[in-house]
Amino acid sequence: MTDKKLRYLLVGVGSNVYNMHKAGLELDCNEVVAVCDIREEPARREAEAWNCPYYLDYKQMIAENEADALIVMVPHTLHAEMSIYAMQHGLNVLCEKPMAIHVAEADQMIAVAKETGKVLAINFQQRLRPEVVAAKELIDEGRLGKIQQVDVKITWTRTYKYYREAGWRGSWAGEGGALLMNQGPHDLDMICHLAGMPKRVYAWTPTIAHQITPEDTAQAMMEWDNGALGSLHASTAEAGQPQRFEIIGTQGHLQINKGSLRFASFDTDVIEFIKASDKSFAEPDMIEESIPMDPQYTGSHRDTHLDFYHAVTQHKPASADGITGIRGLELANAMIYSNYTGQAVDFPLDREKYAALLADLRAREAAQQ
Ligand SMILES: NC(=O)c1ccc[n+]([C@@H]2O[C@H](COP(=O)([O-])OP(=O)(O)OC[C@H]3O[C@@H](n4cnc5c(N)ncnc54)[C@H](O)[C@@H]3O)[C@@H](O)[C@H]2O)c1
Repeated sequence: MTDKKLRYLLVGVGSNVYNMHKAGLELDCNEVVAVCDIREEPARREAEAWNCPYYLDYKQMIAENEADALIVMVPHTLHAEMSIYAMQHGLNVLCEKPMAIHVAEADQMIAVAKETGKVLAINFQQRLRPEVVAAKELIDEGRLGKIQQVDVKITWTRTYKYYREAGWRGSWAGEGGALLMNQGPHDLDMICHLAGMPKRVYAWTPTIAHQITPEDTAQAMMEWDNGALGSLHASTAEAGQPQRFEIIGTQGHLQINKGSLRFASFDTDVIEFIKASDKSFAEPDMIEESIPMDPQYTGSHRDTHLDFYHAVTQHKPASADGITGIRGLELANAMIYSNYTGQAVDFPLDREKYAALLADLRAREAAQQ
C-alpha cells in the first residue's frame, strides 16, 4: 500500500447503504472531502461528522472539490448518469449494485470507463466473502471438473413497510424491477462470478405478496455453453431460506451457505466412472475436504473499499469492474424479459427490445396510478 490517501466525494449519504460504507471510509487510507444528498438534513449531519462541506447537487460538489473518487449510493436509476458524469470529470467511481437498471446504460458506463481510463468498480462485496473467495479458487483450479449443475435458493424477506419507506423501491419507474434489481443482484452476480455467464435463461417473475408492480419472486432455469444446467429461486415474499448455493461438477460438489463452504471431491471423475464401472447402481466415492479460508476477507463494504483503494492507487484489477459487474444485470433483465415474452432468452440480451419492454412496463404502471 502506498501512503496516498484516497480523497472521496460521497453521493447519497442519507441512504441505508451509506451506514455499511462507514467502516471502509474510516480506513486510514481514505479521506472524505465532501458529501451530497438531495435531502439537506442527512447531508448536513454527515458533513459535520466528516468536517467537510455538503451539497444538495452532486455536479456542484464535483465542480467545487479536488478528489480522486465518487461513491454512488443513490437509487439505481441514477447510477449510470452519476457514474458517467463523474468519470467524464476525472473521478474514479465506486458504484453501488446494481450498476444500472438496464444493460444499455451499463454498456455506456463500461465505454466511458474505457475512454477515460478511470476505475469503475461495482460494490459486489459478497464476492469477497471468505467462502466465496475459496470457492472461486477451487473452481479456477479445476477442482470441480466440468460444471454440470448450479443451484441457488434464497429468501430476502421484505415487509410492506420496507417498500413504503422509500417511494422509489418496488416500482418499474423507481428501480426498473424489484427483487431482481435490489435484493437479487448479489445472487445473480455470484452465479456469473462462480459459474460464468449462462448462454440462455427462462424465467417466471411473479408478484406474490407485495403491493408492488414488479416481481417479488423469481424462478429461473439457466443453461451454459458447456451444457451445464442451473436454477434460481429467490423471493422477498417467502422466509426461512438463507442463501444456499450449490455447484456440482464432474469431479466435485461444492455448497456455500452464509459463512461456510463444504467441498467434497469424487475419487473418480463421474463421467469416467459411469463409463467404466462394472456395477449398475454405483457412484464414485466422495471425499470431504476441509478448505482453508483467508481471514483477510469478510465480505463487508470495508473489503470493497480496500479493493477499490488498490485498484485506483496500484492499478490492480477491481474485484468487480463494469465488465464483470454487468453480467448479473443482464441476467436480471433477461429474466424479466423472459417472463413478459413467455420465451427463453439467449445472451446477449437484445438491448433495444429490453428498453422497449421496460418503457412499456413503466407506462402501464403510470397508467394504474
Ligand atoms: N451492496 C449492498 O449490499 C447494498 C445494500 C443496500 C443497498 N444497496 C444499494 O444502494 C443504493 C441505495 O439503496 P438504499 O436502500 O440504501 O437507498 P435509500 O432509499 O435508503 O437512500 C437513497 C438516498 O439517496 C438520496 N438521493 C436520491 N436522489 C438523489 C440525488 N439526485 N442526489 C443526491 N442524493 C439523492 C436520497 O435522499 C436518500 O438519502 C441502491 O442502489 C441499492 O441497491 C446496496
